[in-house]
Amino acid sequence: MEQSGAKNTVTITDNRTGTSQEFPIIKVTQGLDNIDLMNLRAKFNLESFDAGLGSTAHCKSAITYIDGDAGILRHRGYTIEELAEKSSFLETACLLRDGELPSAQKLADFKKEMAENASVPREIDAIIRTFDSNADPMIMLQTATAAMSAQVKDDKAHLMIAKMPTLVAMTIRHKQGKEFVAPDPTLSYAENFLKMCFADDNGEYKANSTMTAAMDRFLILHADHEQNASTSVVRGTRSTQATKLVSMSAAIGALSGPRHGGANTAVLNMLDKIETVDGIDAFLERVEKKECELMGFGHRVYKNTDPRAGVLKQVVDPLLEALNVNDPRVEIAKELEKRALGTEYFQKRKLFPNVDFYSGLAFSAMGFERNDFTTLFALGRTPGWVAQMEELDRDPQNRITRPRQAYVGEVERHYVPMEQRMMGHNSASVGQTLTPTV
Ligand code: SDX
Repeated sequence: MEQSGAKNTVTITDNRTGTSQEFPIIKVTQGLDNIDLMNLRAKFNLESFDAGLGSTAHCKSAITYIDGDAGILRHRGYTIEELAEKSSFLETACLLRDGELPSAQKLADFKKEMAENASVPREIDAIIRTFDSNADPMIMLQTATAAMSAQVKDDKAHLMIAKMPTLVAMTIRHKQGKEFVAPDPTLSYAENFLKMCFADDNGEYKANSTMTAAMDRFLILHADHEQNASTSVVRGTRSTQATKLVSMSAAIGALSGPRHGGANTAVLNMLDKIETVDGIDAFLERVEKKECELMGFGHRVYKNTDPRAGVLKQVVDPLLEALNVNDPRVEIAKELEKRALGTEYFQKRKLFPNVDFYSGLAFSAMGFERNDFTTLFALGRTPGWVAQMEELDRDPQNRITRPRQAYVGEVERHYVPMEQRMMGHNSASVGQTLTPTV
């Protein structure tokens, strides 16, 4: 607790020299205050080391707040549970960008703008079609997004919220060798997306209201998540003044990894390998021996529960029922969660299901193939990336992202000619001479 009259600073002492320096504390509205170390090098001739930036705030942001110990996620002050229940994806997108829930007129205008701008230029069709149908759809999406930088200028980058469903649907249909389906501006955002993915060869699509509502809810759950890996990449890339779409393309690359958005695909691969409930114990033994990870578990910030996983878990059963899908992997997943949470390994490390644990099962029930799942995450995250870049552009402290390093490599060496390396002399530090070859 802060003592009255206490200074709003932290004093750091270099115990080698006894030198002390004071650093200001940045007050935040919620969460942990920050030590402002921007003058650390100047004051101390030292740098801070923080692998993976687990204790370092790299920006100020007012968009999303997470309390990892309490399992709280709020966008602009609204809990994710409330938004998932009461809001829509496009309304949440407005909230993320503007900081306030939109008026009826503003939301109507935004929906209209999104519906009218969902198509993508012909060249992009051609780019997607150049890919082998077995190519990773995240690579197609990343390439198409970068290519669209030539068309969608920075002041219109929010239109990517409109265009991303079309791009994702195109990657899905291209893999299946199907014709692309044009966006339908009369449909809701989620229904239009599902139609572009699943319409038959005549362009006909029969909507299922439970599935449409579930899709909208999944998108809300993925809409933003403060400084996760792909959002840090979007900010880092944008900090160089690269275009917003090129920055988004970089973020899609970061999201593709199995430690990040790619985990939803990895979860299904894992459940398939476990095969039956009887395979769970042997699998958990392998996890404890560090032979593999339990995909869809663990989080850098959440150390109690990921509230999005709780919402998703509740959506899965009704969705499967509405779609008349019987997936035995749901039972394996639930039992796996239960048994994992009962082990000392997971309890000690505070590892819980994250957003990716149940999303793949739901996407699979809807009819998406597993290597499409991460593109659905990218679709959901687009408003977050847009909002984060808009905030960065307004930030007076917007500096190029350029971290330092703790250099642990060789000190200066002299180049060793090949004849000497052949004789086993690999290096010579400066000041040391090698025996000259005769
Ligand atoms: C997302 O950050 C975000 O916001 C991301 C995200 C978003 O919305 O953008 O929430 C989306 O990316 C969710 C995460 C999806 N990834 C996975 O489900 C893959 C499996 N999870 C792990 O790879 C891992 O938990 C991370 C990457 C999510 C977090 O990594 P950290 O913070 O670096 O975790 P850590 O290395 O500090 O782990 C602490 C310990 C270690 O063991 P010890 O060295 O202490 O013995 O827990 C172990 C880890 O080996 N551990 C796991 C584990 N996750 C961590 N062991 C088994 N299975 C796991 N899943």
